Amino acid sequence: MSNFNQESVLSVHHWTDNLFSFTTTRNPSFRFRSGEFTMIGLEVEHRPLLRAYSVASAHYEDRLEFFSIKVPDGPLTSRLQHLKEGDEIIVSRKATGTLVIDNLEDGRNLYLIGTGTGLAPFLSVIKDPEVYERFEKVVLLHGCRRVAELAYGEMITEKLPNDELLGELVRRQLIYYPTVTRDPFRNRGRITDLIMSGKLFADIDLPDLEPQHDRVMICGSPALVRDSRELLVGKGFVEGNHGEPAQFVVEKAFAER
Ligand code: A2P
Repeated sequence: MSNFNQESVLSVHHWTDNLFSFTTTRNPSFRFRSGEFTMIGLEVEHRPLLRAYSVASAHYEDRLEFFSIKVPDGPLTSRLQHLKEGDEIIVSRKATGTLVIDNLEDGRNLYLIGTGTGLAPFLSVIKDPEVYERFEKVVLLHGCRRVAELAYGEMITEKLPNDELLGELVRRQLIYYPTVTRDPFRNRGRITDLIMSGKLFADIDLPDLEPQHDRVMICGSPALVRDSRELLVGKGFVEGNHGEPAQFVVEKAFAER
């Protein structure tokens, strides 16, 4: 049996010149946990060209969603960005990844730190009712350079709070904190700086991060991952992994190299 399914593209949305999302059909046999990634791609010259992508849709949805950058000369994204409805795409039959709540110990509040397309796994996490059972507050931090890059903001602030299944949980427990570094905006600065200065906690009215109580998931560039890890370790947080749940987990956002 092949390790891949063929799916067809159902919709494409371009957020900016550099960012887009698309949805595809989902083979019912494809299972994943909120926050995991899978390999997706296209057939190029009779060979599969694949990259890791976080699944941005919820584990119970019947379509898959992916959030991608466009790299002009990137082998895959230079092609993917031209996807249109009805096109075929290859999706692995397996999903994996560290950004799953099973890799975290129980705690009070869950912080999701994503920059750029590092938001993607958390779009799945914030749609999982189990996440709201495990944690009191779920704080979604999305850091971007530009306001236009704050993709999914409207889905998070308008659609989710009115969702039949999740609305009440989201209204009571989800805190969305978008911040930008290179445009004027109501929240400004790098997520790491906002944590270190305490501004974030003043803004959202929660106590400063504490390893006894808080749990953190991180997804972004290698620099973001490095600096956030250092920050958390400095506060006494222990990193978790498969089979070894702890207080925070990290994953690099998957950009093309
Ligand atoms: P900045 O504009 O100050 O570099 P990128 O597109 O480079 O991945 O960045 C996405 C967002 O993450 C930007 O707001 C960027 O801020 C921020 N960022 C980049 N590197 C780090 C880091 N090491 N620590 C915290 N935030 C970072």
